Amino acid sequence: MVVHATSDSGAAATPRPGFNPLREATDRRLPRIAGPCAMVLFGVTGDLSRKKLLPAIYDLANRGLLPPGFSLIGFARRDWTVEQFTGEVYDAVRAHARTEFKDEVWRQLAEGFRFVSGSFSDADAFRRLKETVDAVEAERGIAGNVAFYLSVPPSAFPQVCGQLAEFGLAKPPEGSWRRVIIEKPFGHDLASAQELDTVVSSAFNPDSVFRIDHYLGKETVQNILALRFANEMFEPIWNNNFIDHVQITMAEDIGIGGRAGYYDGIGAARDVIQNHLLQLMALTAMEEPVVFDAAALRAEKVKILSAVRLPEDLAAATARGQYAAGWQGGVPVVGYLEEDGIPADSHTETYAALRLEVDTRRWAGTPFYLRTGKRLGRRVTEVAVVFKPAPHLPFSRMAQSQDSRNAIVIRVQPDEGVTIRFGAKVPGTALEVRDVSMDFGYGNSFTEASPEAYERLILDVLLGDPPLFPQRDEVELSWRILDPVEEFWAGLGAPEPYQAGSWGPDSGKAMLARDGRVWRRP
Ligand code: BG6
Repeated sequence: MVVHATSDSGAAATPRPGFNPLREATDRRLPRIAGPCAMVLFGVTGDLSRKKLLPAIYDLANRGLLPPGFSLIGFARRDWTVEQFTGEVYDAVRAHARTEFKDEVWRQLAEGFRFVSGSFSDADAFRRLKETVDAVEAERGIAGNVAFYLSVPPSAFPQVCGQLAEFGLAKPPEGSWRRVIIEKPFGHDLASAQELDTVVSSAFNPDSVFRIDHYLGKETVQNILALRFANEMFEPIWNNNFIDHVQITMAEDIGIGGRAGYYDGIGAARDVIQNHLLQLMALTAMEEPVVFDAAALRAEKVKILSAVRLPEDLAAATARGQYAAGWQGGVPVVGYLEEDGIPADSHTETYAALRLEVDTRRWAGTPFYLRTGKRLGRRVTEVAVVFKPAPHLPFSRMAQSQDSRNAIVIRVQPDEGVTIRFGAKVPGTALEVRDVSMDFGYGNSFTEASPEAYERLILDVLLGDPPLFPQRDEVELSWRILDPVEEFWAGLGAPEPYQAGSWGPDSGKAMLARDGRVWRRP
C-alpha cells in the first residue's frame, strides 16, 4: 500500500506559481500515478471489456493517472488492424466512459494502442505478442512492466498462462514487474479453484496474481472500513450484545441478458455470494486490521471466513428460486426458462439466500443473512446491521414492525451512503415514538463523483497495491462455505419460481420467518 503523506512542515517558502493555499490546505489527496507500464488485454471483444475495462482505462488517462507512455495491447481472435481496434475502443469509451471525452487525452492514449490477432492455442500469435511488447518497450519506454488482464473464461487460463510462460512474458526482466489479473469465477467449487490457482501460479509468482472482485473497488464498500474503524461511536455496539442480526442484500432488477452461456449452471450463489457477498460480510464482521495493507486485511478476513459456520439444517437455512415471467418497470419480461440459450428444464437458481453463523466471541448468536437475486423489485445493494429492540419501553411505539428496528444501513448502491434508523417522538403526541432516519449521502457530502470500481482496481494493479484484491485463501474459504450448499441444492428438484419484479420466492421469506425475522424492504 502506498501511503502518501501531506507535507505539514510549516517552513516559510515562496509560494510556487499557481499555488492556492486554501485548496492545497484542504485537498489531502495526492494523486497516485502509475509508473511506466503496458497492459495486455485478453478478451478485448467481450462485454466486460467494452462496458467497464476500456472505459475505465480512458477515465484513468483522463484523470492523469496513467503514465505518458502507457500502452494498451489488445489480443483477440478477430482479424483487426490496429486502426480497427482503436475504433472499437473509441466506441466503447464514447458509450461508457464516466468522465468527459477530451480529444487531446484520447489522442495521446490511442498512440499507445497495439493489437495482436490470434487464438489462445496459436503459438505464433504469442510470438507476435512478445515482439509487440518488445517493440513497445523500445518505442514507449514501459520499463519492462506489463500487466496481463485475463478477461476470458477460466477454461482459457491454462492455455494463456502456459503460452505467456513459454514465451518468457510472465517472467519480469530484472528490476521490472509482470502481473496477471484474473476475473471471477475463480472456479466453480473448491477443487476447481485450487486447480486454477495451480495453473496461474505455475506461470506467475503468487504476489503477482491480482484477483478482481469488483465490489472491493466500490467506494461504498471501502467505506465500511472507514465507518467501522475511523469512528469511535459504532465499535462499542458492533457485536452480539447489541446487534440482532445482519442482512446483506444484493438485488438486481435485470435478468441474465445475453449471459446465458456463463450463467446457466453457475447460478446466483456461485455468481455473487461466493465472492461479492462473502467479501461484504467479511468486511462487516472482521476485527480491525493492524494497518491497511494486504497482509493485515487478509489475515482479518480469513479469520472471519474460517469462523463462518453453515447451520446443520440446510433446508431451513437456505432458499433458492428462479424468476418466472412478470413485470419490470412497467414492461412484461420473460421468465428465466424462456430466456435465449437457457434449457427449458434448467435448475439454475437466480435467487439465493443463506443464513450464516460466525463462531467468534463478537458474533456468536448473531446470524448473517445473505440474499441475492435477478429480476427482483429493484436494484439495490446494502448491508443492514439490525439492532435488538430496546429491552423496555416506558411509552408506546407507533410502528412496531421489525422493519422499524434501530439499524445502520450501508447503502452500497445506488443512492450511495449510510442511513441510521432510530425512533423519535411524534410531534404533538403525549409521547408516541415513530421511526425516522438520519442520512449520509455521497452526493450531498462530497462534490466529486466516485470513480468506477474498475478505475480504482486497474490503477491499483499498475501501482502494485494489493489490499483490495482477494487472496487465494479467501477464495478457497469462500468455496468451503458454499460447496455444501451447492451439493445440498443439487439433490433437490427445480428451484421455486418467483414472479419477475417481486422480492423473491416464498421460501426466502420463510427462511427468516422461522427465526422470527423479516427481510428489510429496501
Ligand atoms: C457480477 C455478476 O459480478 O456483478 C453479475 O457476475 C452482476 O451477474 C454484477 O450483474 C453486478 O455488478 P454491479 O456492480 O452492477 O452491482
